[in-house]
Amino acid sequence: MSQEVLHIEEDKQVCLLTLNRPESMNAINMELLHALQEQVHSLRLRKDVRALILTGAGEKAFCAGADLKERSGMTQEQVKEYIHNIRNLSSAIEDLNKPVIAAVNGVALGGGTELALASDIRFAAENATMGLTETSLAIIPGGGGTQRLPRVVGRSRAKEMIFTGRRIDAAEAERIGLVTEVCSQEGLLSRCRETAEAIAENGPVAVEQAKFAINRGMETDIATGLSIESAAYWVTIPTEDRLEGLRAFKEKRKPQYTGQ
Ligand code: COA
Repeated sequence: MSQEVLHIEEDKQVCLLTLNRPESMNAINMELLHALQEQVHSLRLRKDVRALILTGAGEKAFCAGADLKERSGMTQEQVKEYIHNIRNLSSAIEDLNKPVIAAVNGVALGGGTELALASDIRFAAENATMGLTETSLAIIPGGGGTQRLPRVVGRSRAKEMIFTGRRIDAAEAERIGLVTEVCSQEGLLSRCRETAEAIAENGPVAVEQAKFAINRGMETDIATGLSIESAAYWVTIPTEDRLEGLRAFKEKRKPQYTGQ
């Protein structure tokens, strides 16, 4: 079931998850939401996967947010369940023990921008459009957007974007720091793969601990953040990979990390 709405491809320790509902601009219905939850959950335990790329099928959309056609047939309780699940999905992506790269290959509105915000790194194609448009539907962002957008672009800019529901183009998204880099449409995925493969070459425990230290440390005062960094560093010290890194340096060769 999950194979249909979510395409999964693995190569060189990188997993590419493609939201696969192009006829609906890759909007997230319940089926896709559950498929994403299931995949993110199972990837946590996969030592052979070291980075994840999220993208959308087709050339128009990354993800147009919640499936509004499905939504119109939902009861209030079902809407609450959906929101609960999409908020948890965003948190699971943010907390995943390996980096997640969003390849924003077109429209990313509402939940689409929220998926990108939950990712660690965002690259966008020139044709990307982003925005938290929920207030135009008389609701608010429910997948973490009210919390993550201000943390990325600043409180005032996030308020302006959320209160107006304004859609921004890729150039503006880059200017305000919502995406790291704008790429050509054809070059987007290879740019993401190149980054994911560079990450995959590094010590997996180190990358996981760096993500943990940044995510947790940024939410606290600097003294606590530095303690978090210290505790995260300590996790890397007894690893076999740390010794392999030192050996490889001495032997002037590329290290082979195993995650041990
Ligand atoms: N849920 C369900 N279907 C959606 C959708 C969504 N969020 N967004 C787009 N679609 C569907 C359209 O209904 C249309 O289907 P149809 O051909 O059966 O009518 C198809 O995707 C193509 O969309 P269309 O609007 O014709 O293409 P467009 O290029 O003119 O515009 C969007 C694309 C995404 C800009 C526009 O559809 C839109 O604004 N969608 C709503 C996005 C949104 O507000 N998301 C936040 C939800 S909280």
